[in-house]
Amino acid sequence: MCGIVGYVGFKNATDVLIDGLRRLEYRGYDSAGVAVKTNGQLEVRKKAGKLARLVEVLEDEPLSGHLGVGHTRWATHGPPTDANAHPHPVEDGSLVVIHNGIIENYLPLKERLLAEGHVFQSDTDSEVLAHLIESHYASDLEAAVRAALAEAEGAYALVVAHKDHDELVVARTVSPLVIGLGEGENFVASDVPALLPYTRRVIFLHDGDMAVVGKDGVRVMDLEGHPVTREASEVDWDVEAAEKGGYPHYMLKEIYEQPWVLENTLGGRLHEESANVELGLDLDLTRFDRVHVIACGTAFYAGWVGKYLIEELARLPVEVDVASEYRYRNPVVDERTLAVVISQSGETIDTLEALREAKRRGAASLGVINVKGSSITRETDATLYIHAGPEIGVASTKAYVAMLAAMEMLALALGRARGTLDAETARGLLGELRKLPRLVEEALERRPVVAHVAEKYHQATDFLFLGRHVQSPTAYEGALKLKEISYIHAEAYPAGEMKHGPIALIDPRLPVVVLATRGPLYEKTLSNIQEVAARGGRVVAVATDGDEGIRRHAEDVIYVPEVHPLLAPIVSVVPLQLLAYETAVLLGRDVDQPRNLAKSVTVE
Ligand code: F6R
Repeated sequence: MCGIVGYVGFKNATDVLIDGLRRLEYRGYDSAGVAVKTNGQLEVRKKAGKLARLVEVLEDEPLSGHLGVGHTRWATHGPPTDANAHPHPVEDGSLVVIHNGIIENYLPLKERLLAEGHVFQSDTDSEVLAHLIESHYASDLEAAVRAALAEAEGAYALVVAHKDHDELVVARTVSPLVIGLGEGENFVASDVPALLPYTRRVIFLHDGDMAVVGKDGVRVMDLEGHPVTREASEVDWDVEAAEKGGYPHYMLKEIYEQPWVLENTLGGRLHEESANVELGLDLDLTRFDRVHVIACGTAFYAGWVGKYLIEELARLPVEVDVASEYRYRNPVVDERTLAVVISQSGETIDTLEALREAKRRGAASLGVINVKGSSITRETDATLYIHAGPEIGVASTKAYVAMLAAMEMLALALGRARGTLDAETARGLLGELRKLPRLVEEALERRPVVAHVAEKYHQATDFLFLGRHVQSPTAYEGALKLKEISYIHAEAYPAGEMKHGPIALIDPRLPVVVLATRGPLYEKTLSNIQEVAARGGRVVAVATDGDEGIRRHAEDVIYVPEVHPLLAPIVSVVPLQLLAYETAVLLGRDVDQPRNLAKSVTVE
């Protein structure tokens, strides 16, 4: 949410900033701006709209220099206009800030600053920080930022540049910020992909860290100014992983990466000999008597599948919550509760706050996370990395299948630890897990059939998605993908629930996508399909290879390879991702940057 890039060094700062912002545009894309220090002055260019509009402005009015800051915005306070775009300069242009987050007490601060004579140019909460820092500035930028932050309440990743200083002063609370270390140059970014072409050595700033970033060095301190030591880490993502690699969209590339992603997630963790998985978790899995799974959006659906798996294999009661509800529902938690938080970015603020709530109430915690070094990983007792590589498409795909694979392994590990899963059954499941990369590869080969279905139904105004048991969450995920990137209204229901209301919606204009893969509830799902067909609904079934009989009831069938019923969501979600993708492309939607959305939601 909001992309931040900062640069100090010997290269042309504008080039580094625009390149970095391009790699971060998925974080927010309603306006963009840069400020570059040139001939001892800070020059700002900013523009509402996508980054391409800023690039046009820079072609007409270029900027060159060796220190600069850049930003792509996802609006919170104030609409996306040129004035509300970052960077925010103070009136005399001596100082600029870029900011991600929300300053909660910006109104009283703004009133005071207005009374002191400061002139504001935007409606944003962020601009308050610029004036506040200016009000504390004598000649020491670091001290002025520190004094300003002592007065500001809320969340921020902040980068400040001043015309009289050759360093950037940065700080974070809640919103992420990472420093990239180079030779004779250093970088700042809200997210690692911006740094990949330049360096893999990074420092993930912690909550409450400030840093002074010069071309020859970086000093990290706390908000009181005491030096703190933060080890640099190496990121193992390569630059190609964060580029489109010949695909028209990141989302499509990421859908096609899923076989490889599953190999990564499962790699080295499946052990037939011990009939177990090795997850390297520093947690005693025998000591829990309940599990709370907490996540948002797509990660929540992965958690919902996890509930079925853990209850089935480990016989532990599991509650699943969307994170924004969990913390306000007074959950019953004790020290025998395991809180599992799932997040691709590891930065989603709702999930982070729910984790804190669970911990406050005594739970042990486990993160199922993609991004190494992210905020959530620093607060959980243990982390199970899903190793999906950088996910750039705003609509999550490859992270979802990786989360599902991770939840399968977690359920298996809990079952083995608790003695509820015997070795033979566990070995069978391990064998099935090993097949997943190949089966997902096969599912991808069915794309032409999915494209045909998309062609047929892309003018529909509504879709219904149905599934049972582990395929209920698959239905919800399919509906979410479709609405996110095609803007078609889509609802999902557990198939058995349809007759309790949504059946009233069925008519010949409503495509109904039914997850009808083989499993214990297959016959019941078939009955639900008949209920739809009998009322003139148009059924698109996702069915198991070889199930010719289903053609009698469904108008269209998308076949997926046969797999153990508990693993079916991983294979079946593939055609639903492709359906959303193909539909969105047919409708001319912006697949990688759907309207109003941003990846990594760091506001509540
Ligand atoms: C959907 C999507 C969102 C995220 C949600 C959680 O395609 O991307 O629903 O799944 O915002 O994000 P993470 O996993 O980063 O916590």
